[in-house]
Amino acid sequence: MANNQRTRTLFNSCLLSVTLFCLCLYPIPASAQQHRKLRFGVNGEFKILQVADMHFGNGATTRCQDVLPDQKLHCSDLNTTAFMSRVIAAEKPNLIVFTGDNIFGSDAKDAVKSMNDAFAPAIESKIPWVAVLGNHDQESTLTRQGLMNHIVKLPNTLSQVNPPEAAHYIDGFGNYNLQIHGVASSSLQNKSVLNLYFLDSGDFSSLPNLKGYDFITTSQQFWFDRTSKRLQREYNAKPNPQDGVAPGLAYFHIPLPEFWTFNSKNATKGVRQEGTFSAPTNSGFFTTLVARGDVKSVFVGHDHVNDFCGKLRGLNLCYGGGFGYHAYGKAGWARRARVVVVDVNKKRKGKWGDVKSIRTWKRLDDQLLSVIDAQVLWTNSVNGSVVPRF
Ligand SMILES: *[C@@H]1O[C@H](CO)[C@@H](O)[C@H](O)[C@H]1NC(C)=O
Ligand SMILES: *[C@@H]1O[C@H](CO)[C@@H](O)[C@H](O)[C@H]1NC(C)=O
Ligand SMILES: *[C@@H]1O[C@H](CO)[C@@H](O)[C@H](O)[C@H]1NC(C)=O
Ligand SMILES: *[C@@H]1O[C@H](CO)[C@@H](O)[C@H](O)[C@H]1NC(C)=O
Repeated sequence: MANNQRTRTLFNSCLLSVTLFCLCLYPIPASAQQHRKLRFGVNGEFKILQVADMHFGNGATTRCQDVLPDQKLHCSDLNTTAFMSRVIAAEKPNLIVFTGDNIFGSDAKDAVKSMNDAFAPAIESKIPWVAVLGNHDQESTLTRQGLMNHIVKLPNTLSQVNPPEAAHYIDGFGNYNLQIHGVASSSLQNKSVLNLYFLDSGDFSSLPNLKGYDFITTSQQFWFDRTSKRLQREYNAKPNPQDGVAPGLAYFHIPLPEFWTFNSKNATKGVRQEGTFSAPTNSGFFTTLVARGDVKSVFVGHDHVNDFCGKLRGLNLCYGGGFGYHAYGKAGWARRARVVVVDVNKKRKGKWGDVKSIRTWKRLDDQLLSVIDAQVLWTNSVNGSVVPRF
């Protein structure tokens, strides 16, 4: 028996070694990323639609929260779906980003069905999309790991459970990076000129002395810092070595404590109508981001009726504003989505170059899908002449 077990153990460890050896030779294809390279369009733009806090439940039977009395009767999760289809059709983004609380787990009978229905308009659009988790997604039938394992298998998603090189040390599920390459046939077609970071900001801390909402941990900040430095080395390397660092954007669910710096008066655009419900202590990610310097703006959800952007030490902190109808909101204050457009410089002879500016606005779920709060978040132009056009 013991002998038999030893043989089996030996066999298993052999199998493990062979498997690990094979994995080294053939790195797991970094999901669809290699098959679907993201790049700037021939119009020199890359557009991202952020959908924050859908709070999807079970579809037609799940009622809306915080709508006007006369809207109550004919309002369900299907209104969230309809809004998404409309805003995708109107904006035609290059990427759709779901920043968590995609489903409201405690009301969703079946996490798989709820997720599938929540993401359906994005999937149908055939536009690449990604998702991270909020603090409510795991309250149904799947764990956070189970949810990310399911999400990465859905059509057209570029989401990853975790980066292969960091999977053994990073906290959470749904930390990854996407590289947006220069315009096809331009000199930067093989360079990542814009780097997107997606992070799992967790749900609730399980540490006895740190009760409350979760935070971006040391391991995640380490991965961010390493990744950002590696991307800069590639950006600076031959062929076509570029100066400095390509700009980046970071997306996650729970706001950093620094979001508290702004109110409706001193935010650059948008409003504060509730507190910032971040972790009770500061894990230092803001400092890590500012020190590294590549990320120009952070985009979060979580506090549905805040939708401002504010600039602190050169870094923009932006809320998406609540999107979903089964989420708490404010009756009469329209559900909304945030759009970000990044433009590249047009160089001599009409050739496209590196990133020139990062702009944003919001779309409201009203009859006209009104565009509000257009602003320039960042520009590298010498005289700052970029105007906040739509
Ligand atoms: C929800 O959708 C229904 C059906 O299209 C529509 O009549 C209703 O006005 C929508 N409610 C809101 C709050 O948008
Ligand atoms: C980009 O990579 C492709 C494929 O490896 C190559 O054919 C092309 O010449 C490269 N272009 C530039 C501008 O580096
Ligand atoms: C905004 O105003 C509040 C209240 O006066 C203040 O505490 C905060 O520091 C201000 N923020 C900025 C960025 O000026
Ligand atoms: C500076 O601004 C002017 C318009 O005011 C514009 O024509 C010019 O292209 C700008 N230069 C740069 C380097 O952005």
